[in-house]
Amino acid sequence: MKKLLILVLTLCMVLTAASCGARPDKDAAPEQVDRPEENKAADALPPEAGEAAEGKMLVAYFSWTGNTEGVANHIADITGADKFEIVPAEPYGEENNNYYDESARAYKERYDASARPEIDAAVENMEQYDIVFIGYPIWYGEVPKPVYTFLESYDFEGKTIVPFCTSGSTDIGPSVTGISPLAPEANWLDGRRFSGGASRSSVEEWVNGLDIKTEEEPEVTGNKMTLTVGGAAFTATLEDNSTAAEFKKLLPVTLDMSELNGNEKYYYLDADLPSAAANPGAVQEGDIMLYGSNCVVVFYKTFSTAYSYTKIGHIDDPTGLAAALGAGDVSVEFN
Ligand SMILES: Cc1cc2nc3c(=O)[nH]c(=O)nc-3n(C[C@H](O)[C@H](O)[C@H](O)COP(=O)(O)O)c2cc1C
Repeated sequence: MKKLLILVLTLCMVLTAASCGARPDKDAAPEQVDRPEENKAADALPPEAGEAAEGKMLVAYFSWTGNTEGVANHIADITGADKFEIVPAEPYGEENNNYYDESARAYKERYDASARPEIDAAVENMEQYDIVFIGYPIWYGEVPKPVYTFLESYDFEGKTIVPFCTSGSTDIGPSVTGISPLAPEANWLDGRRFSGGASRSSVEEWVNGLDIKTEEEPEVTGNKMTLTVGGAAFTATLEDNSTAAEFKKLLPVTLDMSELNGNEKYYYLDADLPSAAANPGAVQEGDIMLYGSNCVVVFYKTFSTAYSYTKIGHIDDPTGLAAALGAGDVSVEFN
């Protein structure tokens, strides 16, 4: 009877699950001929500091069709957490897509309390982490068993665990009840369910409301900051103005910058910065500018411009900047 109820429940979410099974192509670059005002992305502020669990973070997740991985990527991006994918040594076959197939492995494991599928790899030096996000898809109302294996593989005493899941419709509560006894010494925070394809802003809103904070962030000293792209680091000197001062408050931050015209990379912040734009005549390779009130631009070429900008700073030695930024969109860490 219990199984029948679960089958009926899952019937309701088959369509939802099928529609969100594909991985979103988050790397697709928007087409543009000019810097589009509407190409806004949520900003990348770290969680607010507070009276909270504090320390180095890990996002460990199991994801069969990519939905949970999408949320895990947002969490890692927002918090700076390391990521670890829980990969079953033996992959789940396509037959597990058929929720009604009682002979499918996922179904059988769901009703086998002792099932602990082997998982590949291991977290390197788990001791270093204080806060561990644990993500999974809901399978038959519960946590897939590879996550049980993961939880039983480490000592979580003194760590804070933050569960999250994706599902067609089932909420997270009962699934957490199933796994929390596996790490009884951990400080379990309330979990959160997301739908497949959850937006970065919905994840960020949740993360910012959590009672956690990242490790002491390195102080931004004086008027210097560092831009890191790929393996290359560039020191920049900030302007003595309120735009640079407010930008500094966002650090450290990683911006997924878009390419424009073979000259520059840009990113729209969610919040406005103070601006006092003027036409510089020419922008210089290495200039870091604010366009409008919220568009951060890094120029990797010197050229005359008719546009107006507020200067945020300048890369001290831009040698190699163009090569490091590359021809396409790129992630730049400002620290
Ligand atoms: C075997 C199986 C069982 C599932 N059971 C449920 C369920 O009980 N409730 C629900 O809302 N969604 C259920 N789903 C849908 C998944 O939870 C949902 O598609 C999830 O976002 C998949 O995450 P993933 O892409 O990270 O694997 C199930 C999916 C599979 C494959």
